[in-house]
Amino acid sequence: MNIVILAAGQGKRMKSALPKVLQTLAGKPLLQHVLNTALDLQGKSAKTGPIVVVGYGAADVKEFLQITSEQDSRYGKVTTVLQAEQKGTGHALLQALPKLDVNEPTLVLYGDVPLLSKKTLSKLVKLADGVHGQDSALALLTQNLNNPTGYGRIVRDIDGSIKEIVEEKDASPEQKRITEINTGIMVLPTNSLKKWLKSLRASNAQGEYYLTDVIAMAVNDGVPIRTTQADAEYETVGVNSRDQLAALERVHQLNQAHVLMDAGVSLADPARIDIRGTLECGTDVFIDVGCVFEGCVTLAAGTTVGPYCIIRNSVIGKNVTIHPYSHIDGAQVGANSLIGPYARLRPGADLSHDVHIGNFVEVKNSKIAANSKANHLAYVGDSIVGSRVNIGAGTITCNYDGVNKHQTIIEDDVFIGSDTQLVAPVRVGRGATLGAGTTLTKDAPPNQLTVSRAKQISLQWQRPVKKEKKVVAKKVATKKSVKAKK
Ligand code: UD1
Ligand code: CA
Repeated sequence: MNIVILAAGQGKRMKSALPKVLQTLAGKPLLQHVLNTALDLQGKSAKTGPIVVVGYGAADVKEFLQITSEQDSRYGKVTTVLQAEQKGTGHALLQALPKLDVNEPTLVLYGDVPLLSKKTLSKLVKLADGVHGQDSALALLTQNLNNPTGYGRIVRDIDGSIKEIVEEKDASPEQKRITEINTGIMVLPTNSLKKWLKSLRASNAQGEYYLTDVIAMAVNDGVPIRTTQADAEYETVGVNSRDQLAALERVHQLNQAHVLMDAGVSLADPARIDIRGTLECGTDVFIDVGCVFEGCVTLAAGTTVGPYCIIRNSVIGKNVTIHPYSHIDGAQVGANSLIGPYARLRPGADLSHDVHIGNFVEVKNSKIAANSKANHLAYVGDSIVGSRVNIGAGTITCNYDGVNKHQTIIEDDVFIGSDTQLVAPVRVGRGATLGAGTTLTKDAPPNQLTVSRAKQISLQWQRPVKKEKKVVAKKVATKKSVKAKK
């Protein structure tokens, strides 16, 4: 099957420098949603991939496709054709014509209709299948709307058969009362399409080549036209404004929330979660309000995420508690660990089980073994930390000398006193204790107390006393002088 995605329009109402199809929904460009569904529908065996008609911001759209193909190999199949001037949907499809396989039907999608489901599309494709052999029926996805203003209307005969589609701007007052609209999504017999597109004329209110005019041509040629509708109205909603984009985002997020709850996840409020990517959860996971999940995130069974956490590309083990306002990116957290509040795990943070990372602690590119703790105000970077290590408040691994990064190794059962700086590269031996305030520049031997600290002294000393302020004296003087005048 040929799939053509129309994506050349500017989207004036977005008032954006970005072409409309690159505006994001759930963290992904609208076009990526459409392409993912199209690629899914085609399956792995498809010889050729979807064809995207680009125009406004073509370079940006092509760059997006290039970058995405590096992460998702399926995008290697996607090709583009340029519609240099946007002269209408029929003209857009005409640009893709040389690339179409005439022995296969052609599915037309819009780059700005992101939530159309594979299920609805399969239904539409099946509907076009047919009785007429290879070059079969024309299948049209329509929708009944309470307010059809702005859309093309489906004009039917008294017997219910379709006659034509009339655009809002060309419609008579009577036709404007029709509530069945054209979603723009259709499956066409490609051989006939070729002929029809070439005979389109722009003699209408907008001076455009309307793809919708092929419907009347199909009627004329005796090609059967069948219609079906999507399961849910939001599926066929296109994005024209930021308002509509935000509304569709909420619909999508709520749908994802319901999928999670159906799978056994508890959400404090299904209306206050944002998943921009994929979130996989075990049973009895609880997620409090305001959390954002980006990329691929896994939360194993029994894990609790407190309010307002941001978790990106991370794997969180079983029965972990993530306290409020924690920021976790590219990290791995072992079972039964406690994170936050206000913790920051950066890429390469790899925590074993029963690890405690408390408030205002940042961990980057570091392995922390089981039962170790850094509960307050610390930076652990480029480190290997053993088991049962206690990292005191204010401890910093000085991993960066201004040019290079160096490693800190802290062996098992080490106790690091508060406000210690470990100037890397440096190693703290098993069972060692570092006294509070130590600046460690050489390796600390195992099982000893190492401390670097100026010697404490006490002196007899008089604290300076505050002098009476002159301002006060002035005020008194004024009062006196007033009195004197009287
Ligand atoms: C179109 C349909 C209308 C339907 C509506 C559904 C036509 C003539 N009208 O109207 O019946 O109810 O969609 O939303 O088809 N595009 C191009 N090149 C162009 C023009 C458009 O690639 O020259 C792309 C746009 O980027 C967009 C899609 O085609 O993805 C639809 O274009 P748009 O201008 O929104 O069509 P409408 O006038 O809304
Ligand atoms: Ca539109």
